[in-house]
Amino acid sequence: MGIFKGRPVSILGSGMYVPDRILTNDDLEKIVDTNDEWIRTRTGIAERRVAADDQVTSDLAYLAAVEALKASNVSPEELNMVIVATNTPDTIFPAVAAKVQGRLSANNAGASDIQSGCTSSVYALSFAAAGIASCIWDKVLVIGAEVLTRLLNWEDRTTCVLFGDGAGAVVLGVSPDGKNRVLSTSLKSDGTKSDLIILPGGLVECPASVEMIEKKLHTIHMKGNEVFKFVNKVLPSFLEEFCRESGLSLGDVNWWVFHQANYRIIESVLKRLDISMDKAIVNIDKYGNTSAATVFLAFHEALVDGRIKKGDKVIFVSFGSGMTYGATLVEV
Ligand code: ACO
Repeated sequence: MGIFKGRPVSILGSGMYVPDRILTNDDLEKIVDTNDEWIRTRTGIAERRVAADDQVTSDLAYLAAVEALKASNVSPEELNMVIVATNTPDTIFPAVAAKVQGRLSANNAGASDIQSGCTSSVYALSFAAAGIASCIWDKVLVIGAEVLTRLLNWEDRTTCVLFGDGAGAVVLGVSPDGKNRVLSTSLKSDGTKSDLIILPGGLVECPASVEMIEKKLHTIHMKGNEVFKFVNKVLPSFLEEFCRESGLSLGDVNWWVFHQANYRIIESVLKRLDISMDKAIVNIDKYGNTSAATVFLAFHEALVDGRIKKGDKVIFVSFGSGMTYGATLVEV
């Protein structure tokens, strides 16, 4: 847990991009043995987006970045760093961030990907804010982008109904009003649970082979029920402690921007904290779980439609493969 000191940091603007193609629960009924009622009641998902056949993660990331730069009134040349949070890079190398930096002609920026499961978003946000607060960078573009649908086993109903594709982005910079707006962060990991969400095949541990492909080890495997229990066990006390150490009561938080993995997870964590669901930003119904993109998509939509207002205290919360989890407090 850390309170940001040094130069004051703000989110200067945000953007998003989701592919046009919509896959509804009814569409999924034609692919696997599932149904709209099961998916809606167990997860809150009604539909998700699927990237076009010729789209890759860097395409989605680039389009979200262009919108965020425009909203921030920041030109690509002003950027010092491009960070992409992703678990579905176009390739293992080069980094997605390098491709986006090149395509933007962000000629004064470095570029790096962060990969820490769905929590990559909150990790990336924190690293960017730390770099600006400590005067290493002035302006940083942070993007969460995923094309998860290409890494799913479409015969496994326990995973393929959950995920979708999308990208969200924020630009961070020194606060124009001199007030510190990215206030505190806490990044955690319990690596003893690293078997709960895995994509085991195709790399060092299990190199590409016909057998690997036949066993579908190049797709996402998840012990969903154990993830659910883990998150419900660790998050309530973690968030209580995070607020206390940030000098806030739970009631002081205007909006909870949760990782959109499952509506029921958000509901049960907030219930344990005695917080109304009215304070949660939820868009899982439209996009499913877009992993490192979810919190940026939810934040951007709520900012644009006016739910999140200037001065609101917002906590970004995420959890994912690792098992990693984390939270960042921002005053908008
Ligand atoms: N359609 C219909 N039935 C299904 C489906 C489906 N798509 N999937 C599973 N079922 C069945 C199961 O086979 C099981 O049937 P059985 O009782 O006859 O054995 C029954 O539904 C219940 O299955 P559970 O797995 O117990 O269902 P649960 O209520 O736990 O919901 C879910 C499953 C939605 C995956 C939930 O556990 C969950 O959301 N877990 C957390 C996932 C998560 O948060 N992931 C985090 C991040 S992902 C990342 O980091 C990349």
